[in-house]
Amino acid sequence: MATRRQRGIPLSSLNPKFLHTNSTSHTWPFSAIAELIDNAYDPDVRAKQFWVDWTRIKGLDCLSFMDNGEGMTRARLYKMLSFGYSDKKAVKDHVPVGIYGNGFKSGSMRLGKDAIVFTKTRDSMSIGLLSQSYLQAVKAQQIMVPILTFRRDGQNLAEDAASLEAILTHSLFSTEKELFSELRAIGAAGPTGTRIIVWKLRTTLSGETEFDFAADKYDIHIRASGSERSRERRAMSPESDWSLRAYCSILYLKPRMQINIRGERVKTQLISKSLAHIANDSYRPAFLTKRIRITFGFNTKSKEHYGIMMYHKNRLIKAYERVSCQRKAERKGIGVIGVIECNFLQPTHNKQDFDDTEQYRKTMHNLSTKLEDYWNEIRYRRKKDDPRCTIPIEDTAKAPDQVWVQCDSCLKWRRLPDGFDCSRLPEKWFCNMNHDPQFRSCMITTAKFMARPHSLFQKELETFNCFYFMISRPLQLEKVEQEKSSLSSLCNHLKQDLEKLSGQIDRGAGPEREEAERKLSKLRLSLARLLVCFVPALNLEHVDVSSEVIDELLDQVLEETIMAVTGHTCF
Ligand SMILES: Nc1ncnc2c1ncn2[C@@H]1O[C@H](COP(=O)(O)OP(=O)(O)OP(=O)(O)O)[C@@H](O)[C@H]1O
Ligand SMILES: [Mg+2]
Ligand SMILES: [Zn+2]
Repeated sequence: MATRRQRGIPLSSLNPKFLHTNSTSHTWPFSAIAELIDNAYDPDVRAKQFWVDWTRIKGLDCLSFMDNGEGMTRARLYKMLSFGYSDKKAVKDHVPVGIYGNGFKSGSMRLGKDAIVFTKTRDSMSIGLLSQSYLQAVKAQQIMVPILTFRRDGQNLAEDAASLEAILTHSLFSTEKELFSELRAIGAAGPTGTRIIVWKLRTTLSGETEFDFAADKYDIHIRASGSERSRERRAMSPESDWSLRAYCSILYLKPRMQINIRGERVKTQLISKSLAHIANDSYRPAFLTKRIRITFGFNTKSKEHYGIMMYHKNRLIKAYERVSCQRKAERKGIGVIGVIECNFLQPTHNKQDFDDTEQYRKTMHNLSTKLEDYWNEIRYRRKKDDPRCTIPIEDTAKAPDQVWVQCDSCLKWRRLPDGFDCSRLPEKWFCNMNHDPQFRSCMITTAKFMARPHSLFQKELETFNCFYFMISRPLQLEKVEQEKSSLSSLCNHLKQDLEKLSGQIDRGAGPEREEAERKLSKLRLSLARLLVCFVPALNLEHVDVSSEVIDELLDQVLEETIMAVTGHTCF
């Protein structure tokens, strides 16, 4: 029975002990954090940005999570704090991760004993408290969730008096002013959004927080126990096992939301695009009508971390899951990563595994066969190309087959010319910097772009690299001269190539001439791409690459490029 002082505080029929029991499904703390990230990502909230921070409030370590999504009305906040309500629907191709109506509760209560939610919609502001400490203190027999709503004029509703008192007494915030200042923090990130603060964080046996906030000030690590063995184990395990930043970088197959950890944006990885020797395969499980795409490739960073990256509705469920051929003594498929989106399987409640069904087992079996085929094929090709080579494929240095960059404004992924030197990319990259004019706007959708393969000539590529380097960072004066001269010599080479090919066409005959013609038109086309990169007003469609006029034009532009670039970096 609620006491008189608790009258008006929403109740559930569950015992408070359930909060802890329910949270134990998260055996790994990052899976709890992922629940909170998913909620902001889902199509009902559609946040563009998400922030994870460590703060200390009144001497206590806290984790804070904030998004600039839709926020919640009072009714929705009540559902968020209750169990089992989930009515998320797909919006176009954006399919929700949330299905069970439990993630927030299990996730937040795994991280700490207490959580407070601040949320703002276009016309309301509400606060809700989900706190094990509070329920213990008032000896509650049922879970109670104090909820408070402010009207637009900042006045709270009369029926919320008991909730307000509970929040001020049992949360970290003891005055209305302090509550408002948290609500204002949401305002700084957008007109609407949600901010969650979790405190009384879980600790290790030695009494320290399970997260290590000191190891890297731009990251949150899972604390390693001091023992030699545990340090060795960490060195062997993928970074995403213990670094929140690394985990968030692969959490979504196609990222839609920017995640920031302790003030630094997480550079998301397009995992299937960061591999070497990529091969796409597909298969149709007997229980499905549709074929499923699988991407295989070699990990370009470490050959020790391999296996299947299994996603479900765009969200990572299992990482580096080795299939049977990778576990056998003969060690096949070393360094091979597979990427698959298994929407046809059912994730377990903590979203870290799939239900162990017949379908799951069949899928894993098929994946093993496919991966082994890929491994054999790559080794066979390599033997054929270089019969004397004795270094195993997994031991050779590899670079990703494709180069992708994410726009800092619209977050779309854009493909750069193969072989592009990423170290020359500026710290921030936007669609309007794209060398390809067809995709030089945030308005253009990625699907069209993804489908387009393109490659460049070596020299043209070097010119790009050079160009980017010059515009992307302030160079020291001696560096400017150096870059300027290499850019100008590259441009000269390109001009000479044009002349040489034209000469060959004039003099040559038969297949030789045809070959030269083909090369020339290809060079002109890719030079035209380069050209529009330097002259943004120009549109590729306006460039007539079939005529000689273009050579003249290109000549001039290459000249001007050098001028423009040097002008650009002179400060
Ligand atoms: N950051 C947020 N912004 C707005 N609404 C949210 C936010 N987080 C949660 N919600 C709301 O709270 C509800 C409950 O979230 P919860 O994570 O517990 O369940 P779910 O996402 O529906 O399903 P699942 O258990 O699979 O995660 C959501 O359905 C959503 O309506
Ligand atoms: Mg959820
Ligand atoms: Zn963009």
